[in-house]
Amino acid sequence: MPSQLFFTQDKIRELYLDYFAGQKHLKLESFSLIPESDDKSLLLINAGMAPLKKYFSGQEVPPSKRVTTCQKCVRTNDIENVGKTARHATFFEMLGNFSFGDYFKDDSINWAWDFVTRILKLPEEKLFATVYEDDYEAFEIWEKKLKNAKKIFKMGKEDNFWEIGEGPCGPCSEIYFDRGEKFGCGGKNCQPGCDCDRFIEIWNLVFTQFNKNSDGSYSKLRQKNIDTGMGLERISVVMQSVNSIFEIDTMQKIIAKIADASKTNYGNNSKKDISIRIIADHIKAAVFMISDDIFVSNEGRGYILRRLIRRAVCRMKILGIESNSFLRELAGLVINIFGRYYKNLVSKKDEIMRMLSEEQKKFNDTLLTGLNMFMDLIDKAERNGKKIISGHEAFKLHDTFGCNMELMQEIADENEIIIDKKEFVNELEKQKQRARESQINQTSNSFDLIIQEEIKKLDVTEFLGYENFKFDEANILMLIDNEIRDEVSGENDFWIIFDKTIFFAEESGQISDSGILKTDTGTANIISCKKILGDKYVHRAKLVSGVIKKNQKASLQLDIEKRERIARNHTATHLLHKILREKIFADTKQMGSYIDNNYFRFDFLCKRTLSKEDMHLIENELNRKIFDDLEVKITNRNINDAISSGVTALFDEKYGDIVRVVNIGGYSMELCSGTHVKNTSQINCFKIIGESGVSAGVRRIEAVTGPMAVEFYNKTQSEIDKACKILKSDKNNLLHKLENVISEGKKNKSKIVKLENILASQMAKKICENYEVINDIKLAFDFCNGDDFDLKFLREIGDKIKNDLKSCVIVLAAKNNDQVNLIFERTEDLNFNAGEIVKNIAKKFGANGGGRKNYAQLGGLKSNSLNLVLKEIKEIMLSVN
Ligand code: SER
Repeated sequence: MPSQLFFTQDKIRELYLDYFAGQKHLKLESFSLIPESDDKSLLLINAGMAPLKKYFSGQEVPPSKRVTTCQKCVRTNDIENVGKTARHATFFEMLGNFSFGDYFKDDSINWAWDFVTRILKLPEEKLFATVYEDDYEAFEIWEKKLKNAKKIFKMGKEDNFWEIGEGPCGPCSEIYFDRGEKFGCGGKNCQPGCDCDRFIEIWNLVFTQFNKNSDGSYSKLRQKNIDTGMGLERISVVMQSVNSIFEIDTMQKIIAKIADASKTNYGNNSKKDISIRIIADHIKAAVFMISDDIFVSNEGRGYILRRLIRRAVCRMKILGIESNSFLRELAGLVINIFGRYYKNLVSKKDEIMRMLSEEQKKFNDTLLTGLNMFMDLIDKAERNGKKIISGHEAFKLHDTFGCNMELMQEIADENEIIIDKKEFVNELEKQKQRARESQINQTSNSFDLIIQEEIKKLDVTEFLGYENFKFDEANILMLIDNEIRDEVSGENDFWIIFDKTIFFAEESGQISDSGILKTDTGTANIISCKKILGDKYVHRAKLVSGVIKKNQKASLQLDIEKRERIARNHTATHLLHKILREKIFADTKQMGSYIDNNYFRFDFLCKRTLSKEDMHLIENELNRKIFDDLEVKITNRNINDAISSGVTALFDEKYGDIVRVVNIGGYSMELCSGTHVKNTSQINCFKIIGESGVSAGVRRIEAVTGPMAVEFYNKTQSEIDKACKILKSDKNNLLHKLENVISEGKKNKSKIVKLENILASQMAKKICENYEVINDIKLAFDFCNGDDFDLKFLREIGDKIKNDLKSCVIVLAAKNNDQVNLIFERTEDLNFNAGEIVKNIAKKFGANGGGRKNYAQLGGLKSNSLNLVLKEIKEIMLSVN
């Protein structure tokens, strides 16, 4: 038998794309991992066909009826298997050839066969096919190729009907490669489709004829299509005769680097190998995701990225890789390997490196603290021979340090320790319940299903609040407290729905309006308003007097001051958005905003931290736009016209056919449903009050306008006045005076340090002359009375004593009010655990304490317990050896 060819991953990609280009396919570059904004069914591209859905459906005309791609994909649904099996990965590349209403089954099978047998030269006897059970046509075509009907397997819908969520789908046919008996399970029914590693699926040919709709039904597509997918990593496994996707040429390099950093040989320790593989997979996915402008955050794609980085960082910790620059270095290698084909990896290199470093740094503090604590729990469980960690403790780490269950579970599994999952889920539920309870009075989402059904029956609320601040003709359609009522009275908050309203409902970061409602029989405050269940405006209200009844006519009055303040802030966010694009970073995007009557915040993409100069520039520019007195014109337009005239639309936002365009003097044009001032001069004044990073690559500006800006200036002024008073200075001299005070303070501090050092030496000398000896160990003890002795000072004395005495235990106590703080140290030649001893003493005396093996602290001890503690220490010293 001729030996199989060896091709690198790069070579296979090239051969595939060239082969199909030779069959008149248009070669397209991989699409971004971010689906187009109108595909709400997906967070990340997860198959070669995903970015091409619109061409399959016939909704859009493709650039060619035949297309071939190598598509970047991310799938995280099997994330817990990654690293543990030979074939699971979160990131993979999918080779594909596609026909949009052009060729169909014949050509697709012919070319697939030709490619694997003639180009890849895979031995025909090792190839098998599967077809959908009713697909005789595909069966017959394969029969001619394989010349043996026994090598074709008919499968049911589960295996051979390809669909992934909503979208184009259809029956499929797969090509399998037989890796040989040694990879098999030896079972009687071991054949293509078996779960073992013998038969590996290398290519899926989908005959895309249907669309799966959101309600689960199928409709026929206008045209017959072909969608094929060949996992590049899998075919590389075959072409390189290796055991797993982690051993192919590209991954080997990454694995080698991680193994090297963890000072281990890959393949020697199965637990460590899992961690190595997880890091290798996750770093690759993270690098590709960042290169496609995905930013770390707490939701959606950003959260997936965060999770991958977190998991990689934790695995590094498990392997003992401490270097803070390791992820960066690894990313550099990934970019080197894959940058030859994916050019944007190279152009985005700096950004990728920076974001990974920032995230790693951020996680190190919190997450790793949690992880260390979890390791402690494992140690403790093992020491106590318990092998179980309580769900309560695990939940605390989850809640406080972001250690997710999955990660703890993985580590626990590897150490053969059980986490009490039931208790964990219980705690989680309790927490959810607490959150629900705290929200119950604030949201309308808690309406039970019966009430929701009733709300659904109502007509959509007509919103008249863009033009009206007052409206006398609203009809009360529904009143709800715990249930639907005919009238409400009493103190509890209630919910009210009108046929028409002027209250803006919370939307796109803008909070809702509030105001007053009056009927013939009662008055109530409108506290907030939300749109639910298909644009029904539900107002939260509180009765001021009388009763409010269903079907009454109501007059509504806005809190105009609040509305105006919100409008100032909202118009200012649009100006800010435009200025950021124009002056700071042309490619910035709005990532989120929050607008209320006191301030607003605006999150945006930015590669760098903003400087003081940037902020001045932004403030000056924005205030100039305010002085320029620009008119704010709002029009409703057709979406396509609006977009083609250059209006800014928000990423990820869903718009209807008719959109509301907010045009600020021709300077800024944005699609927006919020409320705005009529003229920029009404904003009055703009002041940035905060600038910070939200997550890697995303910055936040917090700002105020109008009266709140004036208040900000007044407050600053009054702080300056107070500082003048304290320093007994006038304003002009304030800075000079402050500098003097600081430099004086520095001089004094250095004097104090010197004096403390002298004092510590003297005290240490005195203590060294007066130690006791117990069980051949010296006990150096002293008690310092006075507020000035802090723990740092005690440590300094302790260090000096340790220089002079060997085989010595040092106990130094200082009184603060009626509490005693104490340090407990031992010299290196002794070997009992100081931390444990102090922990036990603390427990016994109701104090706090603990520490390391050779140094520990005790705090919050009642001063009258000091002698007893000393006695206890002496007894312990008698028993140590
Ligand atoms: N859509 C199919 C798959 O992902 C073929 O490309 O397997």
